[in-house]
Amino acid sequence: GDGLLNSSFAVLGIATRGWDDTALQAHVSKSLDEFGSTSAEQKLKDELASKVHYVSGDFVKDETYQEIARRLDEIDKEHGTQANRIYYLAVSPKFFPVITEHLAKVGLTDESNGFRRIVIEKPFGTDLESAEQLNKTLTKFVDENQLYRIDHYLGKETVQNIMAFRFANGIFEPIWNRQYIDHVQITAAESVGVGDRGRYYDQAGALRDMVPNHLFQLLTLTAMEPPISFSAHAVRNEQVKVLRALDPLGNGSPDETSVRGQYGASDEGEGYREAEHVDPNSATPSFVALALEVDNWRWSGVPFYLRTGKCMKRRSTEIAIRFKKPPFKMFQDTVIEKVHSNWLVMRIQPDEGISLSFGAKVPGAVMSMADVEMNFRYQDHFGAKPQTGYERLLFDSMLGDATLFQRADMVENGWRAVEPYLQHWEKTKPDFPNYSAGTWGPESSDELLAKNGHGWRNCL
Ligand code: BG6
Repeated sequence: GDGLLNSSFAVLGIATRGWDDTALQAHVSKSLDEFGSTSAEQKLKDELASKVHYVSGDFVKDETYQEIARRLDEIDKEHGTQANRIYYLAVSPKFFPVITEHLAKVGLTDESNGFRRIVIEKPFGTDLESAEQLNKTLTKFVDENQLYRIDHYLGKETVQNIMAFRFANGIFEPIWNRQYIDHVQITAAESVGVGDRGRYYDQAGALRDMVPNHLFQLLTLTAMEPPISFSAHAVRNEQVKVLRALDPLGNGSPDETSVRGQYGASDEGEGYREAEHVDPNSATPSFVALALEVDNWRWSGVPFYLRTGKCMKRRSTEIAIRFKKPPFKMFQDTVIEKVHSNWLVMRIQPDEGISLSFGAKVPGAVMSMADVEMNFRYQDHFGAKPQTGYERLLFDSMLGDATLFQRADMVENGWRAVEPYLQHWEKTKPDFPNYSAGTWGPESSDELLAKNGHGWRNCL
């Protein structure tokens, strides 16, 4: 690939499969052929596979960690890894504290002779209380700056580009506020259903699965103040301020500021309740829309509408910013093809890019206006499609750059902001299913915006 990986590198896999080094190496080789970049040379793939080792053991048993410690010492000698370690917990969340405690007990988190970092996958807690508890437990054994909470959205090029776009260009920042911006729409629509993840998803639901993490990353990067640098603290300080200022729009009740949905069967596919490992009477939402507000000087009064769902019409993640209309009196006698407004749309995926729409005079003798668009596409300009995210995050965790990882206070404030909805939904029974697979979600989602005179923009 890009040659970024240091050759003094090795992986030690730990699980209960009863494999050994040879079995894992064979698995890695096969997976590299199947999923690895096709341009990677065979020599590189073989070299990677040869750096993989395996310990078979149970996460709750002391002897597993003694064996891990012994094997890591061997690996240090064999591969020259100098006792620098990243523990990547791609495990069920219930093991996060167990593994961290055990690693600490056998001295594997002590940083006196090398770095020791712990990468944690989501979900990080299931609500505010559990997230606070988890943070407390983990920081009994390791320091906050050893924790790298992954949110793979932050690894996406287009998400990082939000900062570059806003702060490396002088023309947007002066109008990036409540004086010029009418409202913001953030959509993460997926066309796929819950698939085979029913066991996890039926417990989590759309709100927990997508909002306090991925959607809030998009929101905070869009709304935050300019950080004084790209350092982890500077950026995350600004993000967390946005989260702390996040409230239901107009301080409305959960009923007034949210919509939940669940897809039912249609020609496009089976219903949510028919999916594998899903309760046939499930009240879990597969769609959620929220009307929020960032109650600070820059944004007070500007609606931030968020929506995400499975089995929607199209796969599309985007941030759409609508600017206020100019005074229209002078155009009152003009033929306007449709009511014009300036939209700035940052397309996160697919068809990554940015577009700006504006009104232009239609050529001809009469004054007539139409919407036109300037469109930047990553693929046209930079050739290669941006990567998915994990490559960058793994690389950053090795460099010790936590900018693109969630800090404890970000996770907690994310949960704080969705807590009213979680609590309210627990107490009230939804009328599900309420949208058909392959549509843009329930009608009530349109009503959520319509009452403020707004409407969802059709994603491309
Ligand atoms: C995951 C969620 O974190 O993100 C999934 O658990 C979701 O339910 C996925 O499908 C979306 O990621 P992406 O990169 O496809 O937008």
